[in-house]
Amino acid sequence: MKYIVANWKSNKTADEVEEWFDKIRVEFGKINSAKLNSLKIIICPPYVYLPLVKKLTIDFSLPFELGAQDVSPFGMGAYTGEVCAKMLTDFAKYVIVGHSERRNYFHEDDKFLGEKVKQINSMGLEAIFCIQDAETIVPEGVTIAAYEPVWAIGSGKADTPENAKQVISFVKQKSHVDNVLYGGSVTPENIKSYLAIGQIDGVLIGGASLVPEKFWEIIINASIY
Ligand code: PGA
Repeated sequence: MKYIVANWKSNKTADEVEEWFDKIRVEFGKINSAKLNSLKIIICPPYVYLPLVKKLTIDFSLPFELGAQDVSPFGMGAYTGEVCAKMLTDFAKYVIVGHSERRNYFHEDDKFLGEKVKQINSMGLEAIFCIQDAETIVPEGVTIAAYEPVWAIGSGKADTPENAKQVISFVKQKSHVDNVLYGGSVTPENIKSYLAIGQIDGVLIGGASLVPEKFWEIIINASIY
């Protein structure tokens, strides 16, 4: 089983979400969906589009699961602006935590991220915990991690499959995490090199997941692994 996780970040209007689905559903309509049984495809839109993405996924019978891009480190209560894990359970099964953009722009530290993971686990959701290198602390209870070197994110300069494999193997040895993905400038052209090399359990995709044609090509290229 390989994970294909789309991280849309802070992109798209509601109309653009609909356009993305209109295009991708045509592609899915052309193939036998059993061909994609080896993939777990997880779409992580901004919070406000989770209901819309859920609806379109059901309406078009697409084999997508949903993830959120963040969660509150607190439960329900007086925390203006926050979305807590319990609210997400109606829409998402997964939550991205510890992305370098959250660590850098929003100053989220290890303790804060650990609280988020606790909230996620307490509601039966699964964290997709981003680590920037082999030394990043992975909190207890994380079952999916994503190795994302900061310099490879959005830069067009992906890490080599060999190095990604080495870091990921090390992370698996030293922590309890079963599945470790690679993220950082994944494209339709390089996806196969990550999945073919072993140890890498899938990919986390930013930029290329926004473009339906590219995302579809990634799915097709990944489906043989
Ligand atoms: P990218 O982003 O694919 O645009 O490099 C990856 C990520 O930040 O998750």
